[in-house]
Amino acid sequence: MSRILNNKNLLILSNISHIYNQESQKFRVLNNINIRVLRGEMVSLIGPSGTGKSTLLNIAGLLEKPTFGSINLSGHNCTKLSEDSKTFIRGAEIGFIFQSHRLFQEFSAIENVMLPQLIMGKSKIEAEKKAKELLSILGLKNRLEFRPAKLSGGEAQRVAIARALSNSPNLILADEPTGNLDAISARNVFEILYKLVKSLDISCIFATHNNDLAKLMDRKIVLKNGSICNE
Ligand SMILES: Nc1ncnc2c1ncn2[C@@H]1O[C@H](COP(=O)(O)OP(=O)(O)O)[C@@H](O)[C@H]1O
Ligand SMILES: [Mg+2]
Repeated sequence: MSRILNNKNLLILSNISHIYNQESQKFRVLNNINIRVLRGEMVSLIGPSGTGKSTLLNIAGLLEKPTFGSINLSGHNCTKLSEDSKTFIRGAEIGFIFQSHRLFQEFSAIENVMLPQLIMGKSKIEAEKKAKELLSILGLKNRLEFRPAKLSGGEAQRVAIARALSNSPNLILADEPTGNLDAISARNVFEILYKLVKSLDISCIFATHNNDLAKLMDRKIVLKNGSICNE
């Protein structure tokens, strides 16, 4: 069974093009992008700044509607769904991690990891149990009640990983999540995420400038001027 699942495409982006309107001028940022990500696969998305990495992740994450093309996630064709359906699929299927941790400053680490679960309708007891479990796996058992201001950059980013995993997503979209960290913390955060992707058998697209990290992933997608150079 797991072998069958392992061969499955979790995410299929087909013929994605995207055009932004910039001061009444049309600007084509993505040009006919085709990407398949298998279950259990961690791929890097690499390319210079301004090349469309965040736009592509936002499209894959159903946050931005592409001008052309289709998105299939976990077998659902997400291209023409209503905003409500997209919000539901996003909550159930996708975890996001950004360059800055984007944790709520007024909440503790554990509350930050419980919040998305409560929004998805889990009970407080269930959400707390899952948050504790994830934060322990991420080495933050002694930081449960800490607010983000009291955490190091690497610790805060690990809380953000726990939050991204809290609703048991199939896909993690990470937009330069180690961009604000020093080399050692960056490597540490990457390795933790890589191990989790493998042990949970989920998928991850990890946008980064860091070629050393990209080399450690299963595959590299290089974006240049809105097109894929190789895959
Ligand atoms: N909402 C927007 N409206 C207009 N142009 C945008 C918008 N978002 C991004 N862009 C432009 O699209 C290009 C790609 O941006 P982005 O996807 O953020 O690239 P990257 O993440 O690779 O740095 C940039 O030139 C940026 O200025
Ligand atoms: Mg970006």
